Amino acid sequence: MLIPKPVSFTENGDPFVLTPETVIATTLPVGELLAEYLRPATGFWMPIVPLAGAGQPALILQIDESVIGGDEAYLLEVIEDGVIIRAPTEAGLLMGIQTLRQLLPTAIFSAQVVTDVRWEVPAVVIEDAPRFGWRGGMMDVSRHFFDAEYVKRYIDLLALHKFNRFHWHLTDDQGWRIEIKRYPKLTEVGAWRKESIIGHPHRDVPHRYDGEPHGGFYTQDQIRDVVAYAARRGITIIPEIEMPGHAQAAVAAYPELGNLDTPLEVGTIWGIIENVFNAEESTIEFLQNVLLEVLELFPSQYIHIGGDECAKTQWNESPKAQARMRELNLPDADALQSYFVRRMDKFLNEQGRVLVGWDEILEGGLAENAVVMSWRGETGGIAAAKEGHDVVMTPWDYTYFFLDQLEAHKSSTTNGLLTLEKAYGYEPIPPDLTPEEAQHVLGAQGQLWTEYMPNVEKLEFMAFPRMCALSEVVWSKNRESYADFVARLRVHLQRLDLLGVNYCGEGIG
Ligand code: ACM
Repeated sequence: MLIPKPVSFTENGDPFVLTPETVIATTLPVGELLAEYLRPATGFWMPIVPLAGAGQPALILQIDESVIGGDEAYLLEVIEDGVIIRAPTEAGLLMGIQTLRQLLPTAIFSAQVVTDVRWEVPAVVIEDAPRFGWRGGMMDVSRHFFDAEYVKRYIDLLALHKFNRFHWHLTDDQGWRIEIKRYPKLTEVGAWRKESIIGHPHRDVPHRYDGEPHGGFYTQDQIRDVVAYAARRGITIIPEIEMPGHAQAAVAAYPELGNLDTPLEVGTIWGIIENVFNAEESTIEFLQNVLLEVLELFPSQYIHIGGDECAKTQWNESPKAQARMRELNLPDADALQSYFVRRMDKFLNEQGRVLVGWDEILEGGLAENAVVMSWRGETGGIAAAKEGHDVVMTPWDYTYFFLDQLEAHKSSTTNGLLTLEKAYGYEPIPPDLTPEEAQHVLGAQGQLWTEYMPNVEKLEFMAFPRMCALSEVVWSKNRESYADFVARLRVHLQRLDLLGVNYCGEGIG
């Protein structure tokens, strides 16, 4: 009853029963995490020892380079006196730990001690390894702010499903959410908006606003803490700093970054906003200084610079932007955007990092080493893979979890329908790619754009159980059928119940 489904699973013999006498045998830091996961429901303070004694019941975590399937592969075996998890790296052991949690009675997910349960682990042998190396979840914390404690909870939910990337969308028109020491107004001004639109910007007219100030940001200390929390669970955080579009909050804080002479407020309306960064040398330098602080906080090899939906109206109308294009000998605004992204690509490469951008970065020519997130369908991803670039599949139709799950949920703000069954059926490798080109598909990722997710209840309602389905799309090499998934999901939902996840329980088929 595991989600995501492992490569192979056999059961034979008597279960192992966890008792207060069980120890955790390992010399690795992952032992502490396992103890923390098991303690609340069992109430056991399992000692962590380097080596279990003969006949001592133990959960053994061992590095074993002979386990095949990559860093995150693992082998989990129930033996006479315990459970042994072997993996080539700690990342693999972490994946095995998530499986062990799910092998125990679902009550293991209780936050309180449960006394009337036998903590049995069935006598299984599990061999497992992921299909893709990029298994991601994205959260937009600009449209609605979710505090660091909540971000950690979401990361833990990702870890439970063996995701290994958290893409943190930290800046946008409606709020700048990361403290930058060199430019304090980004958060003093840019993290706060006076109100938010009610309903849809095109369909619900005339516009109405809620009159409620909204905002918040993460201090650099909080970010370090979240990054470490995620790393401990095998999750790399990819920060996203949007440019050159989706920039209104930053321009509100520092008007010289924009294209207008009139001051702006932090955005209060959703959609594609015209107030983008200008492409002056001073702005590029400003953003590179921002990135330098970002790189200090995030060890990720990949750094996301957005690049999507950059309205060209102001660049086309601004004499300064026109002069800049002439100075750089560029034919049009698309070429200027491409120039902008290339500058960031080069800068990040010099810092030893890799630029990731939404598929608009293909327009006007792709920067040399850029990775593309294909969101407007798979076309951009296919084109990039054919050019030899790495790609993360994030297509709207299958991975945009702001789409409604059921017809009955549709409202004026609907972006369309994405049922659980459709999410489960997603295949990240497009048939048009040759096997060599397909190697460039790093994986896929689920998006939570939060315009219409004002609180954690709504966020979780949109994320789950579709993130459970996606976990299997990106992890499992042997997806069988939707019916097979649903049978396991029914048990898995008991786990989510105990974790207090406000998933959508309707229409599970
Ligand atoms: C996007 O949804 N604008 C990447």
